Amino acid sequence: MDLITHEQRQALRKQVRKCRQQLSINDQQQAAIDLCQQLIQQPSIINAQTISVYLANDGEISLEPFIQWCWQQNKKVYLPVIHPFSSGHLLFLHYQQTTTLVANKYNILEPKLAVTNVLPFNQLDVLIAPLVAFDAQGNRLGMGGGFYDRTLSSWHNQKILSEQVHLSPIGVAHDCQLLTAIPSQHWDIPLPQIITATKHYSW
Ligand SMILES: Nc1ncnc2c1ncn2[C@@H]1O[C@H](COP(=O)(O)OP(=O)(O)OP(=O)(O)O)[C@@H](O)[C@H]1O
Ligand SMILES: [Mg+2]
Repeated sequence: MDLITHEQRQALRKQVRKCRQQLSINDQQQAAIDLCQQLIQQPSIINAQTISVYLANDGEISLEPFIQWCWQQNKKVYLPVIHPFSSGHLLFLHYQQTTTLVANKYNILEPKLAVTNVLPFNQLDVLIAPLVAFDAQGNRLGMGGGFYDRTLSSWHNQKILSEQVHLSPIGVAHDCQLLTAIPSQHWDIPLPQIITATKHYSW
């Protein structure tokens, strides 16, 4: 990537992360409830048995109310875990009320790695992706690790080949994370749906 694009992306990350970090506790709680209301009306979520979520960090919109709803509905919930050997990749581990969580290298809580709790990626019905910024075309800017781009690349390639794809990726964000345009790179995977507390974008 050229230096200018890299610096533009870093500047956008800094700007948008600040906007979400400055939201009040009340705004955060209301946004999480409103987001949950929207998510639970999505056919892909209603029909899903396995859903990957995340634990909010850095002012990200919280999925706590949604996770509680999933548990009540007996849907199986998964959290991303940094792969121990395959650099830059994620594993998806079962997340229950009783799951022991440990902090990873980014200080984000994740389930303690146990092979029996890993779900093969192709068995996920819905993947809820966090993001730093998005635009009205579905372009996504993350925290800069490329984790979700790598995770979604096989899904994206299958879709391009018009193969039957099972997974529904859904990006979620605060409304203030919408930008006019994102300087995307060839490896960035755009999302087919992004849901905020007030809006539902789909492409
Ligand atoms: N499919 C891929 N294979 C190999 N490297 C990749 C892939 N996708 C992204 N990368 C690399 O990951 C790095 C970070 O990518 P990028 O800046 O797009 O992260 P991001 O989308 O903000 O992060 P994340 O996906 O974790 O939210 C880049 O150097 C990029 O080359
Ligand atoms: Mg990216």
